Amino acid sequence: MTNKSEINLTPSITASRGVVIDVAKAIPSRSTAIGIPVGENGAVPKEIGVDRAKLNAAGFEGKVGQTLAIPQPDGPVVIAVGVGTPKSLDAAKLRDASAAFARAAKKHGGLARTLTRAAGLRAQDAGQAVVEGVLLARYRYHAFKNTESDVPLAALILIDDRMQEVKKGVDRGRATATAVQLARDLANAPSTHMTATRMAKVAQSFANASRLKVEVFDQKKLLEMGCGGLLGVNAGSKEPARMIRLRYQPKGATGHLALVGKGIMYDSGGISLKTTHAMLAMKMDMSGAAAVLSAMTALNALGCKTAVTGYMMCTDNMPSGTALRLGDVLKTRNGKTIEIRNTDAEGRLILADGLALAAEEDPDAIVDIATLTGACMRALGTEMAGVMGNDQEFTDQVLHASASTDEPTWQLPLDKRYRSQIDSEIADLNNIGAENPGAITAALFLSEFVGDVPWAHIDIAGPMNAETDASWRSKGATGFGTRLLIDLALNFRRPVRAAGGKRAA
Ligand code: BES
Ligand code: MN
Ligand code: ZN
Repeated sequence: MTNKSEINLTPSITASRGVVIDVAKAIPSRSTAIGIPVGENGAVPKEIGVDRAKLNAAGFEGKVGQTLAIPQPDGPVVIAVGVGTPKSLDAAKLRDASAAFARAAKKHGGLARTLTRAAGLRAQDAGQAVVEGVLLARYRYHAFKNTESDVPLAALILIDDRMQEVKKGVDRGRATATAVQLARDLANAPSTHMTATRMAKVAQSFANASRLKVEVFDQKKLLEMGCGGLLGVNAGSKEPARMIRLRYQPKGATGHLALVGKGIMYDSGGISLKTTHAMLAMKMDMSGAAAVLSAMTALNALGCKTAVTGYMMCTDNMPSGTALRLGDVLKTRNGKTIEIRNTDAEGRLILADGLALAAEEDPDAIVDIATLTGACMRALGTEMAGVMGNDQEFTDQVLHASASTDEPTWQLPLDKRYRSQIDSEIADLNNIGAENPGAITAALFLSEFVGDVPWAHIDIAGPMNAETDASWRSKGATGFGTRLLIDLALNFRRPVRAAGGKRAA
């Protein structure tokens, strides 16, 4: 008999490599589309070839996100790229403007782009933002396409005379964008391809180049370790579970951060089966684990000084004769027992083991990232993730990383008033609360597994997936959280622990 995994032998990781990205003082001849920044006011650069009245008449006002292609009698097409006002121009706006440029030039493989000089923006950060915007906007998942209608990006040349600084930014942008592309490839891959076992193989394939120690824990090991949450969720599946631990240990590390990612390779809901519609995007329910791996692949190249341990909790959630049932009780790694009242609230079960394992090592802080609740998506929509935590100082670091990478988040309260909703009659906890505060009760549940380690939780159920191309997010899996985690690790400062280990919740 042929099983599905035998049929699906096509490689599914396609992260675009081999794109030439460079800095030059003049426009190279191989560029066929050139982006020229134009502000909302001030002089129109002479390369544009027309005046502001003409631009305005064509509907181009220089706002961020606007572009206007100006065909030339011969030579490359010139694209006016709106950059707003110099005062308001920051890395996020420049990333957006550059993404718009890349989309406007979608028929071109060889792009050139002059940089803007804005008072508050370092050349390095500008270079990084442009590379991120262009690479991420041109991302496509084409592992299974026999015919490709999109023109692949071949080269991106930044035109600026601050060569060295811009080059630094280009290298950083390339590293972060490549990481995001990996996260997208992992989440866009069909779930029969991207099994827990395969995820472990992908992680191992990055060990050398990214200087990561990769350890894979199989069923037998997980049983010995008492990971009843992960194994319980896996009970209905033919595909075995995997816990993957990644270690990044730089010399003279200045702190230790743990990352825990939800890796539900497919979330059918289990016997609390989802509807077809709700199941459609559930191959992406491993986006948290993908963000952890992807972020960690970039740390060495970016010179991260923080030691980082990553835990990827991987299994699918399937219904079957051996699946978890309602009323079952699981015992997790830290000994706490959980009564199952809905098998579709599975993410918290696997994270329970991951958080407990992370906390045992007493890191300086733990952050988990998970496509955890529809409730969070209803509260905040698809543009931003929810953040909750047990330590405001560390939570602020997460919010800060969110702001600097323009991966938007909003803090929700980890309010003890909802804690009784997850009390159980027969076990220590039950796995669901009432519907409305579902994002908060899920986080309260997770907080039971971190002891007194400073911890924050990022619920990416909304922004994991984009319905349309917009800015740096391309349709499909977004890789949201990857750049945030990288920034968090790069800028991590040990939170000052309150006396007696007590923390405000
Ligand atoms: N993976 C889902 C959450 C989700 C929904 C992510 C939509 C992305 C888009 C999660 O495992 C889930 O099913 N949550 C349930 C929890 C409920 C049963 C308490 C939900 O949100 O409905
Ligand atoms: Mn679920
Ligand atoms: Zn799920």
